[in-house]
Amino acid sequence: MSIVSYSLEEFVHDMSRLVDEHPDQERLFNKGSAYLERLINDPKAIPEECRLPAGSRGRNANHGTYLLHHGANGLLITSVVWGPDDHLGPHDHRMWGLIGVMDNFITETRFRRQDDRSREGFAQLERDRVNQVKPGDVSLLIPEVDEIHQMDNFSDRATAEIHVYGNDLRGLERSRFDLDACSATDFTTTRFDNC
Ligand SMILES: [Fe+2]
Repeated sequence: MSIVSYSLEEFVHDMSRLVDEHPDQERLFNKGSAYLERLINDPKAIPEECRLPAGSRGRNANHGTYLLHHGANGLLITSVVWGPDDHLGPHDHRMWGLIGVMDNFITETRFRRQDDRSREGFAQLERDRVNQVKPGDVSLLIPEVDEIHQMDNFSDRATAEIHVYGNDLRGLERSRFDLDACSATDFTTTRFDNC
């Protein structure tokens, strides 16, 4: 039996208590990031089957999304695995989020929306930055400000992350973007495909 220094249960407890305090955004991100950094620094805290692509278990063999916690206060915690060459194009989230990398690394491209959102189906995005997010790193999804990204695993190994959101993304209307076409397409997630 392996001993972890900060268990998933402890993380859920600390994050739940933090969310229940209804902190302002700065405190939420500061404290939440510190908790998540502790968790992802010990990958053993997450069951190994939640750190691997779904394979024959899932619709997308090269990807994995596993529910770790969903609380009555809305707190949603999942493990998301990107297999080699896995890719997800630009999309938004419309709520706060924390993403921490556990195993391997991910290339995350961030975008800023330039239009005033008044034309349905139209979106003008500017590529803001590209980050190599490494094990132990946490990136923030800040509603309205910095929450549009694209994910790519350019490596030959699986990348495992922990995603933390303020609410269930299922049923929430969000957008996918096509930079070349300057288009936004609404979509609603029905599963825990929340990344
Ligand atoms: Fe995402």
